[in-house]
Amino acid sequence: LFQAVEMAPRDPILGLAEAFNADTNPDKVNLGVGVYYDDAGKLPLLECVQRAERQMMEAPKARGYLPIDGIAAYDAAVKGLVFGADSAVVKAGRVATVQALGGTGGLKLGADFLRRLNPGAKVLISDPSWENHRALFTNAGFTVESYPYYVASRRGIDFDGMLTALNVAAPGTIVVLHACCHNPTGYDLTADQWDQVIAATKARGLVPFVDMAYQGFGQGIAEDGAVIGKFVASGQDFFVSTSFSKSFSLYGERVGALSVVCVSKEEADRVLSQLKIVIRTNYSNPPIHGAMVVATVLSTPELRQLWEKELAGMRVRIKEMRVALVEKLKSAGVKEDMSFIAQQVGMFSYSGLSKDQMVRLRTEFGVYGTDSGRMCVAALNSRNIDHVCRSIATVLG
Ligand code: LMR
Repeated sequence: LFQAVEMAPRDPILGLAEAFNADTNPDKVNLGVGVYYDDAGKLPLLECVQRAERQMMEAPKARGYLPIDGIAAYDAAVKGLVFGADSAVVKAGRVATVQALGGTGGLKLGADFLRRLNPGAKVLISDPSWENHRALFTNAGFTVESYPYYVASRRGIDFDGMLTALNVAAPGTIVVLHACCHNPTGYDLTADQWDQVIAATKARGLVPFVDMAYQGFGQGIAEDGAVIGKFVASGQDFFVSTSFSKSFSLYGERVGALSVVCVSKEEADRVLSQLKIVIRTNYSNPPIHGAMVVATVLSTPELRQLWEKELAGMRVRIKEMRVALVEKLKSAGVKEDMSFIAQQVGMFSYSGLSKDQMVRLRTEFGVYGTDSGRMCVAALNSRNIDHVCRSIATVLG
């Protein structure tokens, strides 16, 4: 049966962790996967999460099946966070939100639903994009192409190229957009550019699918989510996937959501009924714990305040690491101007290093980033940054 099964290539991001774990170099640093570590190099267990868990333990509950679309209080909390506490579209019942297995799960539910709805549609992702976008939409059965996004020569966004691509896309084309903290480049659209993108998707009848995996890691929770309000104001149907992996440091709990904004409550109800079929035929219904933690934190004012403070702490530390990286690369002898690192936002820096240089970083120095040159700045700390800078300086020669 399995004779013809070929060995699949290693995952470009999670596969690196396997190689990292097997590396015996005592100075090894994992800047591959997008995970935030504190200055002691530890994965944080947020205080707000611990308090919510203690609260949950005080009144332990039996673990029955959840509804197919997840915990109602969780879905409501997601809506509040993504669309705003007083959102008119939410109040009008025009948003279908389902609990999902992380942000990836939200994307896949949306992809599977769209594939049933419009099997011939193409998907456009940014060039470059999160490595898993192409794979995920291809696996859902779509032809995936890309729109121009990043220009290496001037380290910025090819906005004209992006807009031109959207303006010639066929109606119904699904356009995957990063709400904030673009992964992998760290370059986000300005508010004015978003307005133009939203006008283009509306004029062409495209289907925007906004991936919001890093809300709170750019400028702030409201600032990073502002693009959602713009889409709502444009009156388009659109999709948003949400992830709490990073913002709650709950990676392994797989807490995310998919929200679909529709023109009426009646339409949202029908969409929800279809999403439930996608869920039921994939994994039946979602798990309880992580979503209950997030719902508890978001709906308890003191815990919510604490979460916002802890998230701000992570955001600020990443920014400090960016500044330190620029300075220390310079003192390590890098001649090139690396100040762009401090301008990029989110967890990653798109360093501009070639695949060969990234392989050298890994094999000679135990510094792991993706082959594309992406490095997770959120995993730098005061103890590993000097080694990382010396290693980069050496490979840049
Ligand atoms: C990343 O891009 O490193 C993260 O989103 C983790 C993942 O699942 O790839």
